[in-house]
Amino acid sequence: MLYTSKKIVARYFILPLCAGMIAITFWTGVAMAASIDKVTRTIPLNAEGRQTTLTTNQLAIGQRKFNGSCASCHLDGVTKTNPIVDLSPGSLALATPPRNTVASIVDYLENPTTYDGLQDLSKFHPSTQRTDLFPKMRDLSKDDLTAIAGHILVQPKIVGDQWAGGKPKR
Ligand code: HEC
Repeated sequence: MLYTSKKIVARYFILPLCAGMIAITFWTGVAMAASIDKVTRTIPLNAEGRQTTLTTNQLAIGQRKFNGSCASCHLDGVTKTNPIVDLSPGSLALATPPRNTVASIVDYLENPTTYDGLQDLSKFHPSTQRTDLFPKMRDLSKDDLTAIAGHILVQPKIVGDQWAGGKPKR
């Protein structure tokens, strides 16, 4: 008798409850992934004016890797030791050459230069060129750099003024 009622509890209560919970988890996962819409995920690819649309998965990777390798100096888009050269769209756009595209940020992470583009910063700024000096750059593939660049360009479109301290466009 007792055995049967346990079975009934399992069949009519616990199993549907589990199924329901799985369904809710799945649904919210889909809803969260869909919450960054396509327009927000579409950003400048290169100086020639091409655009690219990153996937929500790429942006999730970008955020994670940015937090791991960059946020110690660039938390929320600021630049701790040189606040003038931050990661706001305005600052990136006015660098020489401009760094407001995926390709130009990836290039910076391979060959960092001063804001005027005249001097090599590879001894001072993390890049894949000097992983001996910046071991955190060792594990970043080209895809990771693309994802990180995507994070830098998409984040101000999502959080607005919270990126780079609400610095006005220069
Ligand atoms: C040790 C601190 C530090 C770390 C770690 C760091 N940066 Fe920087 N970053 C700086 C400083 C300082 C500058 C300003 C350099 C200058 O004087 O031109 C800068 C500048 C930049 C710029 C140019 C911004 C502009 O407006 O032109 C970009 C892009 C950038 N960093 C991206 C990154 C990314 C992406 C990572 C992670 C892979 C990273 N940085 C890791 C300190 C850091």
